[in-house]
Amino acid sequence: MVGPDAARAPYHQIPGPTDRCNPRMEPIRVSLSEGREYSIHQRPLGDLPALLRANRLDVGKCLVVTDLNVGTLYEEVLTHALMLEGWSVETVTVPAGETSKTSRYLQEIYDVALRWGVDRQTIVVALGGGVVGDLGGYAAATLLRGLPLVQAPTSLLAQVDSAIGGKTGINHESGKNLIGAFHQPRLVCADPATLKTLPHREWIGGLSEIVKHGLIDDRGFFAWLQSQGEDLLEPKSESTPELISRSAAVKARIVSRDELEQGTRIFLNLGHTFAHAIENVSGYGTVSHGEAVHFGLRAALILSSERQPDQDFNPALDLLALLPSSKVPSGLDVEEVIAAMATDKKTVGGRLRLILLKRIGKPYVASDVSPQELAHAWQAALGA
Ligand SMILES: NC(=O)c1ccc[n+]([C@@H]2O[C@H](COP(=O)([O-])OP(=O)(O)OC[C@H]3O[C@@H](n4cnc5c(N)ncnc54)[C@H](O)[C@@H]3O)[C@@H](O)[C@H]2O)c1
Ligand SMILES: [Zn+2]
Repeated sequence: MVGPDAARAPYHQIPGPTDRCNPRMEPIRVSLSEGREYSIHQRPLGDLPALLRANRLDVGKCLVVTDLNVGTLYEEVLTHALMLEGWSVETVTVPAGETSKTSRYLQEIYDVALRWGVDRQTIVVALGGGVVGDLGGYAAATLLRGLPLVQAPTSLLAQVDSAIGGKTGINHESGKNLIGAFHQPRLVCADPATLKTLPHREWIGGLSEIVKHGLIDDRGFFAWLQSQGEDLLEPKSESTPELISRSAAVKARIVSRDELEQGTRIFLNLGHTFAHAIENVSGYGTVSHGEAVHFGLRAALILSSERQPDQDFNPALDLLALLPSSKVPSGLDVEEVIAAMATDKKTVGGRLRLILLKRIGKPYVASDVSPQELAHAWQAALGA
């Protein structure tokens, strides 16, 4: 399922083998409490052993967690580079897609890891999209009470968002991401060249999270995205590294201010209470996370504009409209989706807490949204 778009991807000029000569690809730092920090690098996967060395991760055992699509394409280049440096490598490959983010595949990782004989120094490398990052990350958080984690994201969504910030976990049939832990990676190695094989649908899904970053960031990222226009719609060797860099920097800044989501990190959930409900009701994997975020952002923007009639949210809706959105899953029942929102982790004391916007770049938490307002926003967002 590599996608027909892979062959025509205009990605032949990826600078390499290092990012030293390109200032746009400077590593981005995530600063945490007690002096902890790590960096997000845009580097070829084959550079990972050098990055491990630079981050004082000594040669030993490395457990690679990947999925079938990504493993077929990139496992060899990664494991070859690691083994050349003397690493001993074991790989767990799960099926691709959201349905692998479950206790069943977590157990599979535990089984392989423990039979192989992981020790406290074994590093876990999550090679893949957000599913593998969350699943492999949670395995790393819990095996032997915590193994060092390295994120090697290969989807756009993972490179700009999910691989950064330390949220790991799995889904439960009651809802998305309900079981999990904070476990920060020791480093993130995002190779933009891997995006050339990413299916177009997944590229567009990643753009939804990028637009989200534009909507909550007050430093002009939204204006930059607007200036890119239709250039955003496919990977481009000239602009994609900057797109990744700018978007990842928004996430890194927010996480650096509030690692454990006790305050402003919750703004990253703009559109997500809506999105998780769509994913849940339509059955995980039917609508991708990025696609669900697209609908969720639309609903959040419609609700925000109804509450702030003096503000113009049309530029945001227009930017979102640029992204070819997937079809609304047929038979989606608005009542059922609203009911599913109640299981969201952001609910406090049975009260929904939604992230809305005062204006573009200024998010806030709304705890007083009525069921009528919700139903209206949903209907408008889904075109129901
Ligand atoms: N931890 C966080 O902070 C956080 C943030 C946002 C999203 N998420 C989670 O991330 C997940 C979504 O991530 P995703 O959109 O990356 O989904 P995904 O991991 O399922 O990847 C999407 C698809 O693209 C394929 N793929 C990935 N990279 C590829 C490549 N380079 N070439 C070819 N195919 C490739 C995968 O095999 C999969 O089929 C959701 O579970 C979501 O909840 C987590
Ligand atoms: Zn998301």
